[in-house]
Amino acid sequence: MHSMQRVSAAWSPWRSVRGWPQSLWGQALLIQSVSVLLIAGLVAGATHSVFAFELRSLGLPLDRLWFWCFPHVIVVSVWAKLANMPIWWRWIHAVFPPLVLLMQQVALPPSVYLAGFIISVTLYWSVHATRVPFYPSFPATWRALHRILEKHADDTPLRVLDIGSGLGDISLFLAKQRVHDSVMGIEIAPLPWAVSAVRSIFSGTSAHFVLGDYRQLDFGQQDVVFAYLSPAVMQAVWQKVCQEMQPGSLFISSEFPVPDKAADHIVFPAPGAPALYVYHR
Ligand SMILES: C[S@@+](CC[C@H](N)C(=O)[O-])C[C@H]1O[C@@H](n2cnc3c(N)ncnc32)[C@H](O)[C@@H]1O
Repeated sequence: MHSMQRVSAAWSPWRSVRGWPQSLWGQALLIQSVSVLLIAGLVAGATHSVFAFELRSLGLPLDRLWFWCFPHVIVVSVWAKLANMPIWWRWIHAVFPPLVLLMQQVALPPSVYLAGFIISVTLYWSVHATRVPFYPSFPATWRALHRILEKHADDTPLRVLDIGSGLGDISLFLAKQRVHDSVMGIEIAPLPWAVSAVRSIFSGTSAHFVLGDYRQLDFGQQDVVFAYLSPAVMQAVWQKVCQEMQPGSLFISSEFPVPDKAADHIVFPAPGAPALYVYHR
């Protein structure tokens, strides 16, 4: 099992509840479904009970879905908080139900939903397993990373690996600036990988991109490993770095430091851009 899934399971007081899903998406599905059933029961009770008349005379729009959306959002948000789901999942819980109702009002053709579904699946391919979604880094981060490499090695060619390379921005930028380096990105989600692979063809650089899981890749051949992942995986990544990277090599993480390990340097690329945590092996 993935390390953060273990951590998340340990945090959750629901862990001891029989049938409580291990994965966050499983928990989200369960919370939403149970709440829908609960609210459906409330709707039936409120509209068919002896109190229905009184409730209507209070002006409550009992036959409007959006009215019932409020208690549903409250139930799922409170439950997600009690289950210690990460904050971004709580936002998804809160925003998803009203969004569904809103989209019902907008008569979009089914092909739009199909396209959205395909894009989401190929972009956020295995977030449920990796716990790392796609979001791009800042150009200030690429430039700061370039400066760190210049300081580390001047003109000496380096082997640089971006683990979770997304659309390939960082690798392409570095390969353009440092033409003697061998720059590689590895990405697990097919859509960003395909975009990066096509970009590399037209970039005129030697950067190349592999579709795969960095957890299966040996870091031993790399002089520099760069990561912009999530706090959920930093401990496991650091273990891999310690086991596989050679003395003298560098591990650099954007935004997310290694837990319980002081960075050798912290670089602040620009106001508003996340810090870079630099670790020497
Ligand atoms: C926050 S994005 C960073 C993208 C890029 N490095 C950048 O800085 O713009 C993290 C990326 O890591 C990818 N990823 C997550 N887990 C991965 C894994 N185990 N192996 C390869 N890629 C992974 C995600 O699909 C996502 O595209």
